Amino acid sequence: MELRQYSAQVLERVNHALEQRIDALDGWAPELKEAMRYGLLLGGKRSRPLLVYAAGQALGASLDSLDGAACAIECIHAYSLIHDDMPEMDNDMLRRGKPSVHAAFSPQTALLAGDALQPLAFEFLAAGAPTPEIGMRQCAILAVNAGYTGMCGGQAMDLKAEHQHIPYETLKVLHSKKTGALIRAAVQLGAVGAGASEEQIKVLTIYAEKTGLAFQIWDDVLDVIGDEAVTGKPVGNDAAAGKSTYPALFGLDKAEELAAAAKDEALAALKEPALSGVDTDLLAQFAVFCVTRSH
Ligand code: IPE
Ligand code: IPE
Ligand code: MG
Ligand code: MG
Ligand code: MG
Repeated sequence: MELRQYSAQVLERVNHALEQRIDALDGWAPELKEAMRYGLLLGGKRSRPLLVYAAGQALGASLDSLDGAACAIECIHAYSLIHDDMPEMDNDMLRRGKPSVHAAFSPQTALLAGDALQPLAFEFLAAGAPTPEIGMRQCAILAVNAGYTGMCGGQAMDLKAEHQHIPYETLKVLHSKKTGALIRAAVQLGAVGAGASEEQIKVLTIYAEKTGLAFQIWDDVLDVIGDEAVTGKPVGNDAAAGKSTYPALFGLDKAEELAAAAKDEALAALKEPALSGVDTDLLAQFAVFCVTRSH
């Protein structure tokens, strides 16, 4: 199947499940509820849910059994974006082609919307896991990759690195935490949901790490050469904020080269013997998408 077609199916499926859950929340904090809906449902590619489904289905899991994990990872991602845009962090006013949550509502509400989306992720996992054992393992994967060791730690490194010249090794760790961690979690959630072998999880993790790096280098590239009308977020703000990015450290051409190299390493991981006989075509298409996308 073409990635574009699979992606459209994933988007519809995940949006439907997320919308149902938001609709079912009680009405006692209506502004918070609307901010959660706004930050979660209005736009976004659903790349991480796509990876949950693509990894899980490749290893034989049903779509139904992956819905909880797909919604969970998107809740964590949406929360990370809401907080990322706040004045205390990147101070960006545009997200997914609309005012960021803090601009459309208020900083207080944005803070709480992110806070509330985080436990909602674990609620999805607890309710949607195919077995309690799988659910426990998925909760641990999500917790580790969202927290200090993963995304939050990466965001802290990102802020500390503003207006600094950091070593390449540090930039790699920064990217692998702030963005790679949730991409890795998505692939691992799908693989564990399908009962993958440890060997399969190992090579899929390498695929995810390389893909995550490619994804963030390209995000940095789009912040230089992207079209705001297409990316739906400000262009040029990384440079303005003095962010440590691949284009900042290496220049645009070299950054694109390193993104392509990471993509190639991701594709190579899919060829490992542990995945022989597994249809990894969608995962391969996604790795290519990471470094060709315009949004
Ligand atoms: C943007 O992620 C933030 C990064 C981690 C690079 P996406 O590019 O997946 O954003 P949406 O969800 O499609 O808006
Ligand atoms: C964001 O990195 C990573 C997150 C954990 C949200 P960026 O700050 O580059 O993401 P965008 O460009 O604002 O989407
Ligand atoms: Mg940021
Ligand atoms: Mg940002
Ligand atoms: Mg960016």
